[in-house]
Amino acid sequence: MKGVIHPLSVHLPIALLLMAFMTMCYWLFKGLATSVFENRIYSLTRFNTVAGLVFVLLAMATGFRDVLAGYWVTFNSPLGKWLYVKVTLAVLIVIIYSTFLWQSRKKPHYLQEDPKIMTWCLITQLVGFLLVITVTALGTMLVFYPHVLARLG
Ligand code: HEM
Repeated sequence: MKGVIHPLSVHLPIALLLMAFMTMCYWLFKGLATSVFENRIYSLTRFNTVAGLVFVLLAMATGFRDVLAGYWVTFNSPLGKWLYVKVTLAVLIVIIYSTFLWQSRKKPHYLQEDPKIMTWCLITQLVGFLLVITVTALGTMLVFYPHVLARLG
């Protein structure tokens, strides 16, 4: 698969958004267990989300670049429809994490004091991470299990 660059750029957003999800969970469960909700952990979630989003945009740019260069799959190749699924998932990831950042911006500290914004933050982190797992699995199948994708339709 000489010439592709997208695989080089996908590991950072996956790692950063995993860290965002894990720190959000740690903030919540530590807070519920000790009644001390730490702003520092919540700030780490916000930082990891911003960095993750920047690298998702880079991954999208390199993904399009590889497709348009026709290295592996193109939009009109037999597996091309899975690329449309990937692009849709990537756009949803950008929308979901932008929503998290938009909502968390309204309450940069003491998030637990605003249940509505807290709910937005927890749900967007969960849905966002499920989307990241899905786009990662689909990308990996495109490269290593194209026969399975071909059978899936
Ligand atoms: C516009 C959106 C995207 C497009 C068009 C796209 C396209 C592709 C293509 C064509 C491949 C096959 C290898 C290659 O030719 O580079 C691939 C693999 C992959 N993609 Fe994406 N992708 C997109 C977004 C993402 C995002 C947002 C992630 C994760 C955050 C991701 C994760 C992966 C992974 C893990 C692989 C397997 C790489 C490997 O192990 O070799 N992709 N993608």
